[in-house]
Amino acid sequence: MKISDLDTPCLLLDLDVMERNIATMAAFFAGTPAKLRPHFKTPKSPEVARRQLSAGAIGITVAKLGEAEVLADAGLGPILMANQVVGPIKIDRLMALLARGVDITVAVESDFNVDQLAAGARRSGQRPQAIIEIDSGMHRCGTTDPAGTVRLARLLEENGIRYRGVMGYEGHTVHIEDATDRREKAGTALAIVGQHVEALAEAGLPAEIVSVGGTGTYNIGATWPGVTEIQAGTYVFMDGRYKTVMPEPFGCALTFLTTILSVKDAYAICDAGMKSLSRDMGMPEAADGSIKVRGLSEEHAHLVGDGVANLEPGDRIELIPSHGDTTLNMHDNYYVRRGEDVIDTWPILAARKFR
Ligand SMILES: Cc1ncc(COP(=O)(O)O)c(C=O)c1O
Repeated sequence: MKISDLDTPCLLLDLDVMERNIATMAAFFAGTPAKLRPHFKTPKSPEVARRQLSAGAIGITVAKLGEAEVLADAGLGPILMANQVVGPIKIDRLMALLARGVDITVAVESDFNVDQLAAGARRSGQRPQAIIEIDSGMHRCGTTDPAGTVRLARLLEENGIRYRGVMGYEGHTVHIEDATDRREKAGTALAIVGQHVEALAEAGLPAEIVSVGGTGTYNIGATWPGVTEIQAGTYVFMDGRYKTVMPEPFGCALTFLTTILSVKDAYAICDAGMKSLSRDMGMPEAADGSIKVRGLSEEHAHLVGDGVANLEPGDRIELIPSHGDTTLNMHDNYYVRRGEDVIDTWPILAARKFR
C-alpha cells in the first residue's frame, strides 16, 4: 500500500527515523552509569516498546495502570509506574497484575498511598513493590523533605511492601530552550533528589532505583551521581515542541497526514481539527515551516504560510504535531512508512488508557 491510498486524517510513523532514535539513545546509554527505562506514554504501542527493550532498555515506565495492562498482555516489562495508584478499584487492578506475575513497581508519596497498598495486599495476598516520588521542584506529586521520605520508606517495609527506591521527575526544566539554563535548573532538581537518596542511605535504606529525567534532560541525569535510570519518552518519536528545544540528535518520526478541503487567497483549510490534532504545546506546522496552522476548530485547520499558494483542494500534506503524545492519544493506528510505502499498521493499543 502507498501513503496515497490512506484516508485522512491519520498518523504516519517513519520506521527508519524511529529506529534511528532508538539506536541513538541505546548507544548513548551503553556508555553511562544510568540506564534507560523509556516512558510508554509516548508510543503507547507494544511494537515500539518491544524494539526499545531489544535495544537495551531495562524496562518500561508507564503513567497509567491501563498502559501497564497493555504491556502485560504483550508480555513486556519490567514496569515502573511513575504515578500513584489511588482508590480501591485501581488498587485491585494492580493486585490483579501482580497475581498474573507481572513485575510492576508503583510510586507512593504519602501514608495514604501506603495504607491503600497495604489494604490491597491484605485483600489479595500479593506483595506490592514501591518507589517514593520526590517533588524535585515541579510541584506535582511527591515528598518534600528527606526525613519524610525516610519515614515513608520505613512505613512501606513495616507494611510488608517492598521498598525499592525513589523517583523525581524534573518536568519543569525539560522544555527550557537555553541548554545551559536547562542544565543548571535540572541540576538543582537532581540535587534535591540526591539529598533524599543520601538521607535514605544514612538511615540504612539505600535506594536500588533512582529514576529521573525526560527527553530534555536525559543526558544530564544519565551521569548524575546516584541516578540509576531515566524515564524519557518523547525521544522515540520527537515532536514539534521538543524539536525547538533540542534540534539534535533525534528526528521527527511522527507526522499527521491531512487533506486540503479549500484554498482561498491567503489561507487554506484542511481536515485536521482539535478532535484529531492537539495544540496544547503550540500550533503544528509542516516540517519545512512553509505551512503553519494558524487555528484549529473541531474538524478544520486554518493554514497560512508561503506554501499555501501551491495548494489545491484534494492535495495532501504532512504536519508535525507540536505535542505528539496528546495527538496520538486520539488515534487508533500508526501507519508505518518507509518513504511512500505503508509497510505495516500498528494499533495504538494504549490510546485513551487514561485510567
Ligand atoms: C513522570 C514522567 N516521567 C518522565 C516524563 C518524560 O517525558 P518526555 O520524554 O516527554 O520529556 C514525563 C513526561 O510527561 C513524566 O510525566
